[in-house]
Amino acid sequence: MKHHGATGEPVSHLVSSLSRARKLGSRDRKLVGEAVYTMVRNLPWPAWFLKKLEKEYGKNAPELIKALRERAQPVLAVDKRHCHIDQVQESLQEQGIETRKSALIEGALVVVSADFSWEKIPEELQKSLWLMDEASQIAARSVAAKAGMLVLDMCAGGGGKTRYLLQSDAHIVAMDSSEKRTRASLEREGLESAWHVVADGMKPPFADGTFDWIIIDAPCSGTGTLRRAPDLLSRLDEKNIKSCVEIQQGLLRSAAALLKASGKLIYVTCSVLPEENRQMLSWIKDELKILKPQPLAEIWGSDVKIEMSPEANFIQLLPSTHGCDGFFIAAYRSN
Ligand SMILES: C[S@@+](CC[C@H](N)C(=O)[O-])C[C@H]1O[C@@H](n2cnc3c(N)ncnc32)[C@H](O)[C@@H]1O
Repeated sequence: MKHHGATGEPVSHLVSSLSRARKLGSRDRKLVGEAVYTMVRNLPWPAWFLKKLEKEYGKNAPELIKALRERAQPVLAVDKRHCHIDQVQESLQEQGIETRKSALIEGALVVVSADFSWEKIPEELQKSLWLMDEASQIAARSVAAKAGMLVLDMCAGGGGKTRYLLQSDAHIVAMDSSEKRTRASLEREGLESAWHVVADGMKPPFADGTFDWIIIDAPCSGTGTLRRAPDLLSRLDEKNIKSCVEIQQGLLRSAAALLKASGKLIYVTCSVLPEENRQMLSWIKDELKILKPQPLAEIWGSDVKIEMSPEANFIQLLPSTHGCDGFFIAAYRSN
């Protein structure tokens, strides 16, 4: 086996190929995976990254760095069209899977059992559940489309947020520039009712003024998900971040044109870096004057339980403050 730094491959791929080569069972595979991940979590991080966090978060940086190194608990999203969260919790408990209701968002179950694996969930129940961090569920819940509205999931990827969005009676267009990811999304349980489109969000095949809601779950550094992918820093440098920012700006520009008058835009990254988040708000203010800040609390109602100013149109979620992945969410409406 080559060292992962030499291949640039994610550690998860290497653990899978090693497990296949050695014909490891699921228990052994889990043990190997945990040992490798623990080792990777404890490796030193690049100086440029630590410097950025120290500059942005000041005295709170050490706590954030510590939280990003910890292991995240699995979180389940419950499809509210098919089942009630209390019943799901009870059925999981019968299988020995302990969960607690999320303190951040309605409908999310945080798995407490240390020996959880997806295979332990009864097949019938698997159809109504999927793994999705609380922060990611809050991002998807930031779209509040009504029946009949047209929603564009601009970077739909494997369809995590698309699946969440499909719980509304709106029409969902799931677009991504990757054919492979779009195919994976199409093959996922319950995603067939979205319209899938393979296209570059910067050259979208839609007329201006088409959508009531757009969510950009932007390609980003992924630094908010280090708890789940501790090796990603070995594949990241400052140049990658610059190119992510350029794509994010291109997608925002294109989304601003695709919105109907009074349509709403949700911009999301799973990053903790200011270039992709806080600084992007200043860029939007200067460059996309048609977009006006839209308070998040108005959209969330009582479903999201995070204390913040009623006027705030953005939030930086952090594992050290909120206990979830590091996500940035900003909301705008077209004037
Ligand atoms: C953060 S991931 C999306 C995850 C997905 N929304 C989910 O919840 O599972 C970002 C996605 O952006 C896509 N992407 C990158 N550049 C793009 C572009 N120019 N237009 C559309 N999609 C793009 C990538 O293929 C990737 O799937």
